[in-house]
Amino acid sequence: MDSEGNGLAAVEVKGVHLPLFPLVESNINNIDKFHARGDDVLIVNWPKSGTHWVYEVVKLLMTGREELTDSIKEGTMFPEACAVESLEKLPSPRILDTHVPLKLFPDEALKKSMIIYILRNPKDAFVSGYHHRKNLKGGTSYCGTWNGYFDLTIDENACSHQLHFSLARRLLFVHTQDLKKEVRRVAEFLGYPKSEEVYDNVTKKCSFGHMKKAKKEPKFFWKPGDSMYRKGIVGDWKNHFTVAQNEKFNAIFNEMRNKLRVSVDFEL
Ligand code: A3P
Repeated sequence: MDSEGNGLAAVEVKGVHLPLFPLVESNINNIDKFHARGDDVLIVNWPKSGTHWVYEVVKLLMTGREELTDSIKEGTMFPEACAVESLEKLPSPRILDTHVPLKLFPDEALKKSMIIYILRNPKDAFVSGYHHRKNLKGGTSYCGTWNGYFDLTIDENACSHQLHFSLARRLLFVHTQDLKKEVRRVAEFLGYPKSEEVYDNVTKKCSFGHMKKAKKEPKFFWKPGDSMYRKGIVGDWKNHFTVAQNEKFNAIFNEMRNKLRVSVDFEL
């Protein structure tokens, strides 16, 4: 807990800081025991970069179903939050989400899995994380100010785990700014090419407006009126960052980006 009375503590795993919840902290070592299958799909991203959105796209494409999943009955599975046995019981092909940097997964997982890495402007993900924490009910809710959040979490949010994606063999980057094009790319990467009609349906069903309306979110999780689906726009960071915060964020992010092996073209 910090001086503003919130639960923003990050978890440190093998030298990497992760802004994860306590539930995850107690299961994080399960990653070492993760047994990959050749048809696993691993959706990897920094928190608040569109995890649930891309999950729905992948699920619709791979299962052929026409409707979104029911988050309450069939929530997304995170290896870092699940018992090893429950992961083993899942039928193939497994579609898994993770916020854990790839370098913490066993080599086997990196060689075997199909990995989709979601890219979102880190400033928007950062702002989204602030609202996520504010809108939660209970002990993990953040009750401080934006400035307090910025100072407390800036060092952990510099996208350092993006440095590790070069380890993966079968890897696709998905940029959340152009959904329609990304749906086709995702389908082709996964080996589930579809007709234009299917792409149109997936795009429609996974639009922000439809997901916000149709997805049922657990009521115990969010304060009344709040949910995972907040604004879904590009550039909301401009409504939050001060000039000084922007300069600080750019300095940290650019230092990280210099070490990346791929070019990322966010508006910074
Ligand atoms: P905002 O808080 O900026 O609105 P995650 O699933 O990783 O937690 O990411 C949540 C963020 O993705 C939220 O960002 C949410 O609104 C956005 N999002 C979810 N579904 C979306 C969609 N279909 N289109 C655009 N943004 C979406």
